[in-house]
Amino acid sequence: MSQTASMSLLLSLSLLPALISPILAQTWTNCNPLNQTNCPSDTALGISNATYNFVTSSAGSTWNTTNGNLVYGTQGAEFTINKKGDAPTIQSNFYIFFGEVEVWMKAAPGQGVVSTIVLESDDLDEIDLEIIGSNTTHIENNYYGKGNTTDEAAKAKWYPTTGAPQDSFHNYTTRWTNETLEWYVDGSIVRTLAYADAVGGKNYPQTPMNVRIGVWAAGDPSNNNYTVKWAGGEIDYSKGPYKMYVQSARITDYSTGAEYKYGDKTGTWQSIDIVA
Ligand SMILES: *[C@@H]1O[C@H](CO)[C@@H](O)[C@H](O)[C@H]1NC(C)=O
Ligand SMILES: *[C@@H]1O[C@H](CO)[C@@H](O)[C@H](O)[C@H]1NC(C)=O
Ligand SMILES: *[C@@H]1O[C@H](CO)[C@@H](O)[C@H](O)[C@H]1NC(C)=O
Ligand SMILES: *[C@@H]1O[C@H](CO)[C@@H](O)[C@H](O)[C@H]1NC(C)=O
Ligand SMILES: *[C@@H]1O[C@H](CO)[C@@H](O)[C@H](O)[C@H]1NC(C)=O
Ligand SMILES: *[C@@H]1O[C@H](CO)[C@@H](O)[C@H](O)[C@H]1NC(C)=O
Ligand SMILES: *[C@@H]1O[C@H](CO)[C@@H](O)[C@H](O)[C@H]1NC(C)=O
Ligand SMILES: *[C@@H]1O[C@H](CO)[C@@H](O)[C@H](O)[C@H]1NC(C)=O
Repeated sequence: MSQTASMSLLLSLSLLPALISPILAQTWTNCNPLNQTNCPSDTALGISNATYNFVTSSAGSTWNTTNGNLVYGTQGAEFTINKKGDAPTIQSNFYIFFGEVEVWMKAAPGQGVVSTIVLESDDLDEIDLEIIGSNTTHIENNYYGKGNTTDEAAKAKWYPTTGAPQDSFHNYTTRWTNETLEWYVDGSIVRTLAYADAVGGKNYPQTPMNVRIGVWAAGDPSNNNYTVKWAGGEIDYSKGPYKMYVQSARITDYSTGAEYKYGDKTGTWQSIDIVA
């Protein structure tokens, strides 16, 4: 499935009232093991400190471009919005089952433009970072358990930054165990979510995740009002191109299998089989 699918998901959600999360635009799955049988198992990263350098060349076949085209320049991978419909995105071919994701990114500027780093599982557990192009002082992070978007306002949190995230590269790191989820910016912890804090653990992200990095026009006028407002207002394509840059990523899988498989339909971490 491509980004087109997520965009149509967003469009269909725009028919619903404003309680629906705008962040769902990046959220989709090819096969949800809680609803479907015979979903393919997830290829594991299985190692520590896998390092991907995007300066002047792609990081090989480990990352798929799932939407648009990237250019690899001296600042790293360039994710560009030139016109309506552009939403360049890359996705790791591997999954991690708890671990650490460090991404060095310079966010895209521009009202209505959103730079994202998302960890997503097959059953729609999600951990994300969202940077609004016109907001030079704050970034947002959020999580979902099994695609539950209820109580959005309580889950999405904003944090002040030191320096505009659109002006220079910063270290955005997420450290994720079965007990806590921690978001760091430039080495300082900004947020901790404990297992029990997410509906007693039921909505705590706990299934194998792949990594998706991209930029999208949340402020496109075809999106619902809530999404456009959240994105800082409507995007003006004539003032583009809007570019996000990713220099590198360092990723650790805390599990060391070859594959991860859902053992049942509970979506709990205990139900995941680690295939050696
Ligand atoms: C999966 O099943 C759950 C529970 O029955 C339901 O809420 C959800 O909408 C389903 N998701 C998909 C993608 O079919
Ligand atoms: C991974 O790198 C971090 C720092 O970048 C270091 O603290 C840690 O020991 C490394 N882990 C392994 C298993 O090499
Ligand atoms: C990534 O690309 C490979 C080769 O084109 C394809 O087999 C695979 O399904 C793709 N994975 C994703 C997650 O799109
Ligand atoms: C940036 O986000 C913070 C937190 O939501 C908000 O208070 C501030 O008004 C935003 N700034 C702009 C320019 O949108
Ligand atoms: C969804 O989230 C709400 C609010 O956090 C919670 O009350 C509810 O139990 C959750 N639903 C499921 C199916 O986990
Ligand atoms: C996390 O995993 C460890 C080791 O399996 C276990 O002892 C601990 O109880 C787990 N924590 C939670 C919140 O399930
Ligand atoms: C990025 O931040 C993480 C979390 O604080 C830290 O472990 C890591 O060493 C930092 N990376 C570099 C290159 O400083
Ligand atoms: C929300 O969008 C609808 C349809 O696009 C429009 O008619 C309405 O005026 C908008 N409301 C606000 C508060 O912007």
